[in-house]
Amino acid sequence: MDTYNFFFFFSASITFILVVLPVAYSHETDQFMECNGTFNCGTIQGIRYPFWGNGRPRYCGHRGFELLCHENQFPAIDINSQRFRVLNISRTGTMTIAPVDIWDDPCPQQLYNISLDHTLFDFASSIRDLDIFYGCPLEDDIPSQNRFVCNTSNGDNYAYYLDESLSRIHRSELEGCGVRIMVPVSRSGFDELWSGIDKIADAWNKGFDVVYVKEMVPCMACRNSGGVCGSNDTSLNFLCFCPDKPYSKSCIVPGMFSSSLNIFLSNCLTACFMV
Ligand SMILES: *[C@@H]1O[C@H](CO)[C@@H](O)[C@H](O)[C@H]1NC(C)=O
Ligand SMILES: *[C@@H]1O[C@H](CO)[C@@H](O)[C@H](O)[C@H]1NC(C)=O
Ligand SMILES: *[C@@H]1O[C@H](CO)[C@@H](O)[C@H](O)[C@H]1NC(C)=O
Ligand SMILES: *[C@@H]1O[C@H](CO)[C@@H](O)[C@H](O)[C@H]1NC(C)=O
Ligand SMILES: *[C@@H]1O[C@H](CO)[C@@H](O)[C@H](O)[C@H]1NC(C)=O
Repeated sequence: MDTYNFFFFFSASITFILVVLPVAYSHETDQFMECNGTFNCGTIQGIRYPFWGNGRPRYCGHRGFELLCHENQFPAIDINSQRFRVLNISRTGTMTIAPVDIWDDPCPQQLYNISLDHTLFDFASSIRDLDIFYGCPLEDDIPSQNRFVCNTSNGDNYAYYLDESLSRIHRSELEGCGVRIMVPVSRSGFDELWSGIDKIADAWNKGFDVVYVKEMVPCMACRNSGGVCGSNDTSLNFLCFCPDKPYSKSCIVPGMFSSSLNIFLSNCLTACFMV
């Protein structure tokens, strides 16, 4: 075999291995098709990675982003064992959520602080914290517009909502209260509550934004290469499902692939065979 024929054989073999074999193993395109399907629930439609659930298998999303479809009306997500109603999901890695337990009720049975899983989510910079005190005696020094009634068995029936500076000013009056919670709300919810347009339940029902941009960064590269984002069901690492097979980052575009193969081979033609 002379150099030219050897090169031709070598090149043809490489082409066979790289182009023909993946097509022969195309049963893996099931995940490509399956994960191209969206999560739809109530008014929220067309949801994709990193979300999964309700017919989208876990490998179509990222752990921690499972959505439930609550009575076919709205999606809900559990974060640190607290359930949130999902009000909106943007394409860029922000969602608006509101706590389910306090939905519509300014005097919830369970009083707790909202906590996020900070490995996955962060509060958006637009949120404001409402400082809410329950089980308080009547305090005349605190503006009455910041007061609402939640009956308790021991007769301390008042609750107050304040912002950070007001709760600092009234710290000593608030010492007689039973429970304090901090509820994140959107800036507009906060402003409307303060201007008297909204009541406290309206403000927290409007929800607050959390961001998960970290999960969207690898997905953008995958989508731009024609892939569908997902994850490895075993290792839970990111995967890009492509028409031929899954890749760790993005699909290898055939044009790019053969041109880099050509560069490799023409370099090799001078270096490898001219010995
Ligand atoms: C993926 O979904 C989009 C929108 O739902 C659709 O237009 C497209 O044809 C789907 N792709 C495949 C390969 O099924
Ligand atoms: C969801 O967010 C988009 C973009 O920010 C906005 O246009 C849309 O009105 C929002 N939908 C709801 C129900 O808030
Ligand atoms: C909520 O957080 C505030 C501030 O950190 C704390 O003072 C309060 O005790 C917490 N409330 C509950 C119910 O854990
Ligand atoms: C609280 O108790 C008062 C008097 O017992 C009653 O009139 C009022 O409706 C109760 N408020 C709530 C929110 O249950
Ligand atoms: C998924 O992860 C397992 C375990 O780390 C690994 O053996 C397998 O090759 C991965 N699959 C893909 C398609 O990357």
